[in-house]
Amino acid sequence: MELLAHLIVLGMAGFILAVSWYPSGSYFSWHPTFMSVGYLVFMCEAVLLFHPKFSPISDRGLRVKLHVVMQVSALISALAGGVHIYNLKNSAGKEHVTTWHAFFGLLSLIMTSWVVIGGPLLLYPGP
Ligand code: HEM
Repeated sequence: MELLAHLIVLGMAGFILAVSWYPSGSYFSWHPTFMSVGYLVFMCEAVLLFHPKFSPISDRGLRVKLHVVMQVSALISALAGGVHIYNLKNSAGKEHVTTWHAFFGLLSLIMTSWVVIGGPLLLYPGP
């Protein structure tokens, strides 16, 4: 049952990557790729591997470190996907953030940055 959660996450990411690249990918395909790897692979696994029930790691300190590293990786991948589509639209001479997808996508990137920046700060509590 615990393994099933990981398989579902990786299966969904694999499906999106397959649809994005098959039969032939375009330069655009990097946008869903970066987003899926960021949010589905890194972020979901960051939560699952942190959870005592779903993680094969028993040492809590190690789980926390892994959680931080994977959340930072999720943000880097998501930002890469955002920068990529921004550049692509620039080079096509298109305007930015003109659809609901773009609006909520941008909001997601801002919220994700906020959460990921806040997380590591918890490791260094103030006076
Ligand atoms: C959580 C995942 C995603 C986020 C945060 C996200 C974010 C964004 C953002 C911010 C833009 C606007 C860029 C701009 O206006 O300069 C955009 C555009 C776009 N995205 Fe995504 N995206 C995600 C996943 C996907 C996926 C899986 C697809 C589908 C294959 C996709 C397809 C597109 C397309 C076609 C555009 C250009 C049209 C538009 O601006 O709406 N995105 N995305």
